[in-house]
Amino acid sequence: MQTDDEKITATNAAEKLRASPKKGCSCDSLAVGRLEPCTLVIFGASGDLATRKLIPALFKMFVAGSLPGSFAIVGCGRTEMSGEEFHNRLEGLLEKQKDFDGRHWRSFASCLHYHPLAYTSESFRKLAAYLRDLDKTAQTDGNYLFHLAVPPTLYGVIGELLGEAGLSHEKREGKGWTRIVVEKPFGHNLQTAVELDTTLHRSFEEHQIFRIDHYLAKETVQNVLMLRFANAIFEPLWNRNFIDYVGIIAAESLGIEQRAGYYEKAGVIRDMFQNHMLQLLSLTAMEPPARFEADRVRDEKVKVFQAIRPFSLKPDDNLVLGQYEDGNINGAAVPGYRGEEGVNPKSLTPTFAMMRLFVDNWRWKGVPFHLISGKRLQRKVTRIVIQFKDVPHTLFENVLAEHITANRLEMGIYPEEAIRLSFQTKNPGPRLCLKTMAMDFEYSRNYKGSGFDPYAKVLLDCILGDQMLFWRQDGVEASWGLLSPILDDCEQCRGRGERLHPYAAGSWGPELAADQVKKIIGHDH
Ligand code: BG6
Repeated sequence: MQTDDEKITATNAAEKLRASPKKGCSCDSLAVGRLEPCTLVIFGASGDLATRKLIPALFKMFVAGSLPGSFAIVGCGRTEMSGEEFHNRLEGLLEKQKDFDGRHWRSFASCLHYHPLAYTSESFRKLAAYLRDLDKTAQTDGNYLFHLAVPPTLYGVIGELLGEAGLSHEKREGKGWTRIVVEKPFGHNLQTAVELDTTLHRSFEEHQIFRIDHYLAKETVQNVLMLRFANAIFEPLWNRNFIDYVGIIAAESLGIEQRAGYYEKAGVIRDMFQNHMLQLLSLTAMEPPARFEADRVRDEKVKVFQAIRPFSLKPDDNLVLGQYEDGNINGAAVPGYRGEEGVNPKSLTPTFAMMRLFVDNWRWKGVPFHLISGKRLQRKVTRIVIQFKDVPHTLFENVLAEHITANRLEMGIYPEEAIRLSFQTKNPGPRLCLKTMAMDFEYSRNYKGSGFDPYAKVLLDCILGDQMLFWRQDGVEASWGLLSPILDDCEQCRGRGERLHPYAAGSWGPELAADQVKKIIGHDH
């Protein structure tokens, strides 16, 4: 186990790296020598997450020189296959990606291993021996990062087996750190989230546990704090005196793809609100921490969750739940949710939600936060909107026929990564007319390169031991606690069917939520 001093040293190392650009280091990549050697063990290595997200991100990091000099990846799974078969399978998948640079594949593959594994004590003891041998050949110094790219039911099981096999201990033979990366969902509700945490804590300490939310690693999401706290002009206005409402939307045109088994149990509240949507809300609403450090930032986020008014299911405009029916996306007919493969034809799982929340603190009292997310909506749009209040007095009343449109700040996360501030100008000409114009900042126009892939950022931070962009357990519990009344209502109440409003695939969701959606999507509606 790490002593307190060692933990502080790990935190300091991450803080120093964050500050490194000041010392002349490039912002695009990290000098390889700074990263400690390590072995990344991916459980569920032949699964969707590992092959679609993790391995491509690791390959990009390798090409960009952002992996440690001594590094090994061990894919683990129940499927029996040789290292060569594993390589061939991954190469085949990567080749289909448009930016695949085949020249680097061979050297990347030389640090890629496969180790078949069963979820038993004996198999994990063998894994421990295998990793010890690999430490010597790959010179990875006994540092292990365990990534759980497996179904959530296995998170606790693997945590315990790692503990039993002695793989959760740090400083084995005087050296080596161990970290465990847990994907969402962290639990199915408050009780199971607490149980999972208790299980993991039997083998791991809090500083070893990394609870992922890939939204936090998106460049534009990270930028919310920079925009707010690295500029003096926004913060004085960022409160109930000037802001009318906040809108946060994550609309998707995709359906549930091949994930019926998972989605039927999760629904939109667990899939998007308990994690991504509440994180976006907390970044928008939090107070400035005294220092940009993982725990100081996470303290402030938790305070936001704790300040959110306990959810009331009445009146109706606090919550609209929906489920998509047959419709059209980009001109192609798509089936309704109940017609998707693997979905119960009478399913009551919501695929859309609009939620109105209030943060009851000095800054935000009375300002509604409208959170909207849904599958099979017209387009994929992810955006945070700060709608400012109307001017307090219209001195142009006598000469202007029109209402003066209030200022608006949009933080675009997808498809445009952008910041847009709209304001009023005089339309040139003899008559006094106003025109809404915008100051626009677009990442793609202003920064070269494709940015850092969110999964690459997440993996890099795990190697660095930096927990800034990961959930802390108190936040997880606060968010489950907040959503419990809704989940109970969705899952247990008799009138559940009546609460679920149908919407056509390719629309902007149920009619009942149309006004709110329109307010947030605005001119794009
Ligand atoms: C995942 C959800 O966490 O986020 C998916 O499980 C959803 O259902 C996805 O499609 C959206 O992520 P992104 O990065 O595409 O906006």
